Amino acid sequence: MINTKKPTQILKEEHKEVLQKLDALEEIFAKLDSKQEVAERLKELAGFFAVDFWLHFAKEEEALFPEIEKFIPRDGGPTGMMLIEHEDLRNTNARIQEAVSQYLSGSDAPETREVIRKKGIYFIALLREHITKEDNILFMMADMHMDGNQAEKVLKLFGEIEKR
Ligand SMILES: [Fe+2]
Repeated sequence: MINTKKPTQILKEEHKEVLQKLDALEEIFAKLDSKQEVAERLKELAGFFAVDFWLHFAKEEEALFPEIEKFIPRDGGPTGMMLIEHEDLRNTNARIQEAVSQYLSGSDAPETREVIRKKGIYFIALLREHITKEDNILFMMADMHMDGNQAEKVLKLFGEIEKR
C-alpha cells in the first residue's frame, strides 16, 4: 500500500472540493434576484450536485461503509447515522434541482426562488455538518480499525465507481 492514498484521504480531498462548491452555492442563493448574474454559475453548480456528487456518496455507501460495518454495526452506529443524513441530503437535493430547473427555464416565480433559498440553506448547513462528522469521527475510526486488505478492496471499488 506504499505510494497509495488511503480511501479516507481520497474522500477527505473530495470533501474539500464539495465545501468550496457549497461556499459558491451560498453566494448564489443570496443573489437569486439577479438572475442574469447568477444563472450560468448556478447551472454549473447544480449540475455538479445532480451528477458527480453522487459518485462520492456511492464510494462511501458501497465501498467504505460496508468495510467499517465489519467492526462497527450499522444499526445505532455512525454509518447508520450517516446513511440517514445521506437520505435527507438526497431528498433535499431533489427538491432543489427541481426548483433550479424551473428557475433556469424561465418560470422564476418568487415561490421558486424561495424554495431554492430555503432548501438550499438547509442543504448547505446539513452537508457541512455531515462532512465535519465524517472527516473527524467516522474516517478516524476507519483509519484506526481498517487493515491493508480492506483498504485495498475499498480502493478497487472506488475505481469501479469512478468509471460509471
Ligand atoms: Fe462524504
